Amino acid sequence: MATVERPQLERPTFRSYTPDDRAGCLRLFDDNTPDFFAPSERAEYAAFLEGLGGAPAAHAYFVLEVAGEVVACGGVSVKGDQAGLSWGMVARAHHRQGLGRRLFEARLAYLRAHYPEARALWVNTSQRAEGFFRRFGFVTQTVTEDAFAPGLHEYRMALELSAPERSDHAR
Ligand SMILES: CC(C)(COP(=O)(O)OP(=O)(O)OC[C@H]1O[C@@H](n2cnc3c(N)ncnc32)[C@H](O)[C@@H]1OP(=O)(O)O)[C@@H](O)C(=O)NCCC(=O)NCCS
Repeated sequence: MATVERPQLERPTFRSYTPDDRAGCLRLFDDNTPDFFAPSERAEYAAFLEGLGGAPAAHAYFVLEVAGEVVACGGVSVKGDQAGLSWGMVARAHHRQGLGRRLFEARLAYLRAHYPEARALWVNTSQRAEGFFRRFGFVTQTVTEDAFAPGLHEYRMALELSAPERSDHAR
């Protein structure tokens, strides 16, 4: 019997960001503004993209690409045994299609493979995406109301990386 499939994106490719992705990433940012990002954060994000590729591996940034189009992007940074997720976003038209999960899991796999010493993974997000990170085990540590913009609160969340997970993927 033929299986019924809902319309799906072809499987996205996960790869490192290159400067050619800049416009595509900024488009994703604009797509998600003002619901998830404040307009005032755009200059910060543009500067962040500009600064990528500096110190080797200081900040890894990735994209998910489908048919030559950037549909999601996000990064990982590591300092000592603390890691952070940075500027993660999915094209608005493709929310709730599994791309956020794919992007998160690929970044986590990168982290485990390259930084097995990382003990905690942090993310600064808003109340709009807090539920997404909770699904992956993140726990809210602090909430700062109106931190990004009026009505857009900052949720600082952390995921503890357990010892077996860390040692599974030795460098
Ligand atoms: C947060 C974000 C990345 C989620 O991406 P997505 O592609 O829509 O998420 P997925 O489709 O992979 O969802 C994975 C699971 O999380 C759930 N989920 C997705 N967004 C959610 C949300 N905002 N709140 C609660 N649950 C959510 C999905 O229902 C799904 O659940 P399931 O595993 O039970 O099916 C996306 O909403 C986004 O890009 N937001 C704008 C940028 C942003 O806020 N980034 C956060 C870091 S700064």
